This record gives sequence, structure tokens and C-alpha cells, in this order.
Amino acid sequence: MSIPHYLKFSDFSADEYDYLFARTALIKKKFKAYDQHQPLVDRTLAMIFEKASTRTRVSFEAGMYQMGGSVVNLTTGDSQLGRAEPIEDTARVISRMVDLVMIRTYEQTKIERFAEFSRVPVINGLTNEFHPCQILADIFTFMEHRGSIRGKTVAWVGDGNNMANTWLQAAQLLGFTVHVSTPSGYEINQAVSGVDSTCYKVFQDPMQACAGVDLVTTDVWTSMGFEAENEARQQAFADWCVDADMMQAAHPEALFMHCLPAHRGEEVSADVIDGPQSVVWDEAENRLHVQKALMEYLLLGKA
Ligand code: CP
Ligand code: NVA
Repeated sequence: MSIPHYLKFSDFSADEYDYLFARTALIKKKFKAYDQHQPLVDRTLAMIFEKASTRTRVSFEAGMYQMGGSVVNLTTGDSQLGRAEPIEDTARVISRMVDLVMIRTYEQTKIERFAEFSRVPVINGLTNEFHPCQILADIFTFMEHRGSIRGKTVAWVGDGNNMANTWLQAAQLLGFTVHVSTPSGYEINQAVSGVDSTCYKVFQDPMQACAGVDLVTTDVWTSMGFEAENEARQQAFADWCVDADMMQAAHPEALFMHCLPAHRGEEVSADVIDGPQSVVWDEAENRLHVQKALMEYLLLGKA
């Protein structure tokens, strides 16, 4: 029997997302009512962090405990991964001891190699190429505030990075459009997301990308692993700060999202991220709820 993994957004079908979003709503409602939801008693999640994290770490760890399970946390520095044990051997060993693995690492090929040798489901907690758990939370957040995202338009302002690639996969699968505006040299690479060109449009001018859209979203100029490029990026991205003018160009009901951590005054102005259209705190909280639905689904299937 094949093991279900969640390595990229396109690993699930639109029907599976319908189920996950409905299940998330139920799990969130129970959480808010202090109504226990413990389908994962005796199950263990191993988390492997090769990069820093606040939200991913806390949401997976708290979520697993809330569902009755337990968690083991590993980082590169405190495991044999940091001393060059092959990822395939690590996968073989860890997956004999736990029920589920979440990994945050560098290349997507690394998590794919882990999954190939794992006996248990593997979740992508961010790679250089993708961040599917974040987009899962973002779309759930959009639905909570504005209803279905089908037919809507999302502006991506900034780096053609892991978040941008994942938005593209979600657009193709769930039927919405992404307006992408990046500085030259930092464009999206369509081959990475594997989408066709009907689900996005490229704009040189970020203001034009924001015109009339339902959601404006951005991310740090320098992602983890690209720190050596920081100075060049600070210059290249100077005109890609989401500010009040860009929000003004969007639909009057448009939301603002950012996966966080954010740098006020760089990719977003303080008045936007702290302003009335911003839903970034709901977005962060929803990581907890969507990932609980995701872990439950990967381990137990549909309820
Ligand atoms: N958005 C997100 O993944 O945050 P962390 O890097 O804090 O996990
Ligand atoms: N694009 C950012 C997202 C952080 C959650 C990074 O990869 O560092």
C-alpha cells in the first residue's frame, strides 16, 4: 500500500482540500470550545528542523499534543544529520520509531529522498522550493474571511520563492489566479511549480499586479538559506514594499497576508501589516488548525 505524503501542494486533489478545509473548521471550533479532539493517542510525530522556525515548530508540536500524541524534535546540529549521516538512513531509522515525520530543510530533493525511504507519512514544513502547510493555512484564512477562493485573484509581490511556487500550485488546483510581480533576477520559475501559464500573470510593476485583486501577499526579501545575497536583495527589492498605495489599488475588500516573520519597512509597511486589511495573526493561528486536520488525515484518512 502506498504511503500518503504531503511534500507539495499538488500532492492532494481539490476534493481532498474540500475535505481538509471542512475538517479544519470543525477542529478549530472544538479547540475554541475546549472540547477535546484526541484521535492520535499513542501516535508520535518526529520533527526535523534544518532551518529556524517559530510558527511551524509551535503549531506542529502543540497540535500533536492536543490530539493526544507526542512529539520528538530534532535539529541538524543535535542529530547525526549534522555529521553527514545520509538522509536515506535517517529516514529508515526514524520511520521505524514514529508514526509521522515533519521536515524543514533546503532542497526539495532532500525531502523527496527522505519520503522514498520512509515507512510513515512525511510532511513538508518548508523547503527552498515549497511551503505547502503555509498556503493551506492562508487559503483557509481567506475562506474564513471572504468565502471560496475559486475565481478570485491574489497578488504576489516580491521574491519568486517557496511561497510564490506554492501559491501557483494552489491556484492551478483550486481555480484562482495569481498576479506575480518580482524584481528582475528574482522571477518565478514555472518549471519548479509545474503549473501551466493559465493560472498566473506576470507584472513588472507591483502596483499593476495589485490592481483590483482580492488578496495582496508578500514575504521576506531574503529567505532562509539565501543570507549571502541579502545586500543585493535589499537594493533589488526596494520598490517591492507592500504599502498603503498598493492596498489602495487592490479591491476595497482586499485582505493582506504574510506568512511571517515580517520585516516592517522592507517587504511591507507597518501601516499595512498592522492595519485593518491585514489578517496575519489569524493566518498564523490557522497553521495550528489546518495541520491538525492534515496530520489526522495522513494517519487515519477521512473521518
Ligand atoms: N511562516 C512560518 O513558517 O514561520 P516559521 O518560520 O516561524 O515556522
Ligand atoms: N520564504 C521564507 C518563508 C519563511 C517562513 C523562507 O523560506 O525563509
